[in-house]
Amino acid sequence: MSKPRVLIVGATGRTGGTIVDALLEAGQTEVEVLIRPPSLAKPAALKLQERGIKIHAAELENTTQLAGILSGTHTVISAVGPELEAQLAQIPLADAAKKAGVQRFVPCAWMTVCPAGGVMWLRDQLSSFNLMHNRESKSSSMFVKLGLPYTIIDVGYWYQVSFPTLPSGRVDYASLLLPNTTILGEGNMKTALTDLRDIGPYVAKIIMDVRTVNKYVFCYGELLSQEELFAKMEELSGENIERKYISSGELKTLLDTTKSSFCYDFSNVQQAFTFIGLEYRYSMYVRGDNDPAYAKYLGYLDARELYPEFVPRRFEAYAKELLEGNAVAVYQGWSFQAW
Ligand SMILES: NC(=O)c1ccc[n+]([C@@H]2O[C@H](COP(=O)([O-])OP(=O)(O)OC[C@H]3O[C@@H](n4cnc5c(N)ncnc54)[C@H](OP(=O)(O)O)[C@@H]3O)[C@@H](O)[C@H]2O)c1
Repeated sequence: MSKPRVLIVGATGRTGGTIVDALLEAGQTEVEVLIRPPSLAKPAALKLQERGIKIHAAELENTTQLAGILSGTHTVISAVGPELEAQLAQIPLADAAKKAGVQRFVPCAWMTVCPAGGVMWLRDQLSSFNLMHNRESKSSSMFVKLGLPYTIIDVGYWYQVSFPTLPSGRVDYASLLLPNTTILGEGNMKTALTDLRDIGPYVAKIIMDVRTVNKYVFCYGELLSQEELFAKMEELSGENIERKYISSGELKTLLDTTKSSFCYDFSNVQQAFTFIGLEYRYSMYVRGDNDPAYAKYLGYLDARELYPEFVPRRFEAYAKELLEGNAVAVYQGWSFQAW
């Protein structure tokens, strides 16, 4: 019997990359990717080609071409990134998927847990374009209107963007924020954290599981507070991190000020990252949204309960890789000054 065909959009990206790796490793599906034509010559696209992965070149807005590409596809997975244009491009993609008889659509979520309705702009994008069911307004999602089976997957906050930096500079090579030594809020709010590389293995299980059709699923590795992350890095490195503190009230003021001057223009990468980073942190560290119990309240299935046989990487293992100089800089070439 032939294996179900899975098409990944955003395969040259960070989340898409881990999903490609894990699906190939699991070997239960035929893995194909869709890349927009101007990106075919990028190193990440060439690497996929070298691995023998079937590449389709198309813009997501080209529904006629997409319908042909999607014919016979079982599952479409989108990891297109947070930009408005990319998020919107998923609407014609879902339309084409329905027409082609796709049996499951996984849109680009991959976020921390957060309710829709004014907490995080990224979350509200998904709900305002009707990619997600909006619990507050009770509006149906695009999937419900199309009758297209879906699964929404959120993943906690990546270890790769969570760790504090050290006075010696030993882990700066992998940090997006330099330095990253600020405790935001009280410091003891636990939040769900995940190794980016564990997203793919979870997805490989979720898309083969009928229990997750038309459901939200939450995956994570460990629940840790900022103080616990700092303490673990201090213990493993033998260094003391001099902490800066921004109170919950100061963080709210900083967020409001940043928001008022943010034009949702992602070509200003620093501004976009600052705004999105502050929203993530306010939601996680002050509101305490990114918590498996709250995810359950919002109706998510817990991937750790669905797949107890899968043991996610622990933060300590990732921190050791970092200290040995073996971690991958997931935002290589980018670094921003922390607040
Ligand atoms: N939970 C966390 O801690 C965390 C951290 C970071 C990100 N995220 C979330 O994870 C999601 C994915 O982010 P990421 O960092 O993995 O993405 P990324 O590395 O920026 O990759 C985005 C991918 O989407 C493709 N793409 C972008 N616009 C497209 C379009 N209009 N049409 C087709 N393909 C398009 C890009 O392809 P090209 O090669 O053509 O550019 C690339 O392959 C985002 O929604 C983000 O919010 C979560």
